[in-house]
Amino acid sequence: MTWFDERSGLAGSVAVVTGGAGGLGLGIVEDLVTNGVRPAVIDIDQTATADLRDTLRERDIDAVVHDGDGRDETALTALFAEVDDRWGRLDTLVNVVGGTFRAPFVETRPKGWDALLRANLFPVLHACALAIPRMRAGGGGSIVNITTIEAHRAAPGFAVYSAAKAAIEQFARTLALEEAPHGIRVNNVAPDYVPTPNLARIAGDASAMSSEAAIRIAIPMGRPGLVSDVSSSVVFLASKLSAYVTGQTLHPDGGAHASAGWFNWPDEGWLNHVPKALLTPPE
Ligand SMILES: NC(=O)c1ccc[n+]([C@@H]2O[C@H](COP(=O)([O-])OP(=O)(O)OC[C@H]3O[C@@H](n4cnc5c(N)ncnc54)[C@H](O)[C@@H]3O)[C@@H](O)[C@H]2O)c1
Repeated sequence: MTWFDERSGLAGSVAVVTGGAGGLGLGIVEDLVTNGVRPAVIDIDQTATADLRDTLRERDIDAVVHDGDGRDETALTALFAEVDDRWGRLDTLVNVVGGTFRAPFVETRPKGWDALLRANLFPVLHACALAIPRMRAGGGGSIVNITTIEAHRAAPGFAVYSAAKAAIEQFARTLALEEAPHGIRVNNVAPDYVPTPNLARIAGDASAMSSEAAIRIAIPMGRPGLVSDVSSSVVFLASKLSAYVTGQTLHPDGGAHASAGWFNWPDEGWLNHVPKALLTPPE
């Protein structure tokens, strides 16, 4: 047994991952499985769930994969019920389901606000409500929510999404205290820009981040996030390596959250304003 296997305590544990068949969720499931975790996944994308089932079957992994909508409490309840029947334990919950669209707030309507809260906030509440009694019965567990850097800064064009993700951040802090005596830890992972198929659909070519130069200016480490940057953080928080960590947020974002308005301009280096040369009209 390696040092990591021994310290992490992941082998043989059980994790529910909502939105676990594609994008960040798939990377998280792959890394958990690699460390001996038995996954229970719900995902709305039926092509992705079929592919995941095939992959897990080929690797002879003990797993549950449901086609379903993480916004639907009945679908979530059915997944947790199968976890009970199959394994009778639950160690980890990773809340990945979420998403957004870009629009200035004044151009949005209550229907859109409702959709954003239903996609981002309520699935976390429902999944936590289902997970906690099961984790308590097993003597503890770890809940990890995928939020975003936009929960920690202003996000023009994404006002309600960022508010919903910020609500999860605050919810997690309170839940961490309420559940600490029961051995349940609650933490968040807040990525910045990680190109996934869905993100490309939202941002498209209009994304400022689509240029390498823009990435070097805006992200201190000078590269986009990788799915593995996020999944590694989740593995850490799911594992006993983080046994004394609760109510916290990890920022796998290449320093973007820390930079808070400072940009690394190609000629001028670090400035917290636009370089003069860019403000001077060309001759
Ligand atoms: N990609 C990024 O740069 C980024 C940055 C910050 C935060 N996030 C957050 O990470 C999460 C995942 O983002 P992603 O880029 O991997 O997106 P994604 O759309 O690829 O989502 C991952 C998986 O979740 C599934 N899913 C989406 N809605 C679902 C629903 N209602 N029910 C069941 N499954 C559903 C998708 O089918 C997909 O397989 C989201 O909560 C997002 O807000 C992403």
